Amino acid sequence: MTPEEAFFTLHSGLEREGPGDAESLAWALGVARVPRAGRVLDAGCGPGADVEGLLAAVPEGQVVALDLHRPYIDELAARLGVDARLRAVPGDMLTPEGTFDFIWCAGAIYNAGIGAALDAWRRHLKQGGRVAFSEIGWRIDNPSPDLRDYWRTACPAMTDRDGILAQVAAAGWRVLADRWLPHAAWSAYYEPLAARIEALRTGAVPSLVSALDQAEQEVGLWRRHGESYGYLQVVAEPAA
Ligand SMILES: C[S@@+](CC[C@H](N)C(=O)[O-])C[C@H]1O[C@@H](n2cnc3c(N)ncnc32)[C@H](O)[C@@H]1O
Repeated sequence: MTPEEAFFTLHSGLEREGPGDAESLAWALGVARVPRAGRVLDAGCGPGADVEGLLAAVPEGQVVALDLHRPYIDELAARLGVDARLRAVPGDMLTPEGTFDFIWCAGAIYNAGIGAALDAWRRHLKQGGRVAFSEIGWRIDNPSPDLRDYWRTACPAMTDRDGILAQVAAAGWRVLADRWLPHAAWSAYYEPLAARIEALRTGAVPSLVSALDQAEQEVGLWRRHGESYGYLQVVAEPAA
């Protein structure tokens, strides 16, 4: 099993692939005020945990769910079946087809970087359209060394709230609201992941053991130091 196969063995079958929940989606939708007939993009949708909530937010509209990893799209299509209002397709979230009233990006913007993603999405937003994304960041100035070392490797560009908001402003966007994701949103991701790590331990081959160890370290750091960092949720629109 290659390291990539080990990663996806661990991560397949999970409802979501990053911190988030119905409440965090509702918070962003409340700020963004998406029209009932709106067209929405779930950028980097993963297994699609937020897709049903997005469909409910635009009862007369359409949701496009995009992810580079085709098995997530296949899982999502199998789970939700045929729905004329949903288009779930493999693809790059920076080059979706058409324009949107709302672009939702839960935990996936780091792949492109905030500036590059906002630059790309500007031309895919309708007049009055808004983007909501979440990005990991430090909440304290002096994190413990084990925590700092872990995230320095896993996410070298990790900054703090001011650093995230400065990137939004530098891209020429205005922040409508921001907040740290509540603890429950982290639990919604990490508790099922911890259970899956436990379930896969027995008989795991070395590459899988290494993926399990790394994920276990990440969950353990969150349990010990979860107040030191967080996911900043940001709702923004082009400033001009
Ligand atoms: C941390 S996961 C979050 C998934 C999902 N939003 C969630 O909250 O469960 C990040 C996702 O972004 C996807 N991704 C990374 N780069 C991408 C890109 N350029 N276009 C589309 N999806 C991308 C990955 O395949 C992965 O599913």
